[in-house]
Amino acid sequence: MSDASAVIQASNLHRSYKIAKKSIEVLHGIDLSIQRGERVFLCGPSGAGKTTLLYTLAGLERPEQGSVHIDGVDLYSLGPKRQAAFRNAKIGYIFQNYLLLPELTALENVLVPGAIGGVDADAAAKAALARVGLADRADHLPAELSGGEQQRVAIARALVNHPPVLFADEPTGNLDSRNSKEVMDLLLGLAAESDTTLVVVTHDEHLATRGDRRLVIKDGKITDGSALATTDEALLCQRCGGTGREPESVA
Ligand SMILES: Nc1ncnc2c1ncn2[C@@H]1O[C@H](COP(=O)(O)OP(=O)(O)O)[C@@H](O)[C@H]1O
Ligand SMILES: [Mg+2]
Repeated sequence: MSDASAVIQASNLHRSYKIAKKSIEVLHGIDLSIQRGERVFLCGPSGAGKTTLLYTLAGLERPEQGSVHIDGVDLYSLGPKRQAAFRNAKIGYIFQNYLLLPELTALENVLVPGAIGGVDADAAAKAALARVGLADRADHLPAELSGGEQQRVAIARALVNHPPVLFADEPTGNLDSRNSKEVMDLLLGLAAESDTTLVVVTHDEHLATRGDRRLVIKDGKITDGSALATTDEALLCQRCGGTGREPESVA
């Protein structure tokens, strides 16, 4: 079903993986509409397909069937170059394990999206680092930063181009509770400032209640968990872990 006002519109997404001749269907005909400025939390047990869905919505993993429209543009109908340029301008992505480039400083990591987009983003990168409270860590390598600081650099990198859509895969999964709250406050605050549409995978039930909508992925399908506070689906939000995995590309 098409929803012209949605900033993210996914229709009939199918994706399966084959392991040792056995095929597992991870996305089983997913339909999803997310409105501009909406903050959506996505829950589900480990292995349910949260990362696969986020990759598919962000243009990082082509579905076997179905389509994804971002801001009205059919993501998988674009050629590779145009799709990469579109992603660079429109989509921020925070990977589960930060995925900072280890040989680059904090500032250089935040400069990468601007460099890919062909703009001199020095001032923007410095402002983004300052906004996440890391102006005085600009010259540190990732190995010289704490986990919470690395995640903040990843947030600055994802937001430096002011993308209208931001995906975050378990952004607090490796952080203690104090850092989790700080990072989530920062993410929600930054998104609100610029009316960014936010899709966040989390296994933390308390964090999941801070969005406008909570979705649960299970058996390859999505259910709206927001009205399910006492059901099994809602409990999955509390219990789901999620191992995450390395992406094929960061660009
Ligand atoms: N590249 C791959 N090859 C084979 N199976 C995969 C691959 N990526 C993910 N899977 C499988 O797909 C399922 C969903 O994975 P994923 O999307 O990472 O789940 P989640 O993020 O919810 O933990 C899992 O069973 C996982 O083992
Ligand atoms: Mg995952």
